[in-house]
Amino acid sequence: MSGPRALVGRRVRLRPPMESDLPVLTRWFVDPELVAPFDRFAYDAPEALAASIRGAPAEPGSLAPRYVIEPLAGGAPVGCVGHYVAHPVLAILDVWYLIGDPAARGQGYGSEAVALLVDELFATTAYERVGATCDVANLASSKLLERLGFRREGTYRAGLHHHAAWHEVAVYGITRPEWAARARS
Ligand SMILES: CC(C)(COP(=O)(O)OP(=O)(O)OC[C@H]1O[C@@H](n2cnc3c(N)ncnc32)[C@H](O)[C@@H]1OP(=O)(O)O)[C@@H](O)C(=O)NCCC(=O)NCCS
Repeated sequence: MSGPRALVGRRVRLRPPMESDLPVLTRWFVDPELVAPFDRFAYDAPEALAASIRGAPAEPGSLAPRYVIEPLAGGAPVGCVGHYVAHPVLAILDVWYLIGDPAARGQGYGSEAVALLVDELFATTAYERVGATCDVANLASSKLLERLGFRREGTYRAGLHHHAAWHEVAVYGITRPEWAARARS
């Protein structure tokens, strides 16, 4: 597996997934309550997950993990992040994120990982806005985005079907000038 360069922050490093990450990624992705308490869930067989990770660098719409999150202090990966072109016409580039190790949640790893990813996307693409969506009930996700300066731009009503019901989805975004101003402050 190959991919983009590693991104190094204060406490975490993001690097492209390797073959050796497949067991932990598979473990996270087969557990619906871990990856999808607020999302639809589709089981990914290990071979399918491996193939989608391999193909992701050439596939802008891929939902595969594009980086694994590793604490700089050492130890196993704690999560992963991705980005995908989310609309066939509009310039919508969305990020997603998962802290797969529940013990590693609430320690700022998710926020730092998403910040590194947004930095990289503004540095390496021409997009003027990076977005994200989450179930309106997903407080951890909303707070992560708001902490990073994303603005709540609206709500998709009945935007997501999961756990046998339709759910409202919060739409978030941050523009290139807003992200640059945040970095300067
Ligand atoms: C969303 C997620 C990535 C957050 O990662 P994290 O590393 O725990 O988040 P951080 O520690 O950086 O905290 C970010 C903010 O969320 C808040 N938060 C974290 N967990 C929370 C929870 N369970 N409930 C409410 N707020 C929570 C933190 O207090 C912080 O807010 P603050 O800046 O106001 O203090 C993690 O909970 C997760 O993987 N969830 C399952 C997958 C998911 O929902 N992904 C997003 C799909 S849209």
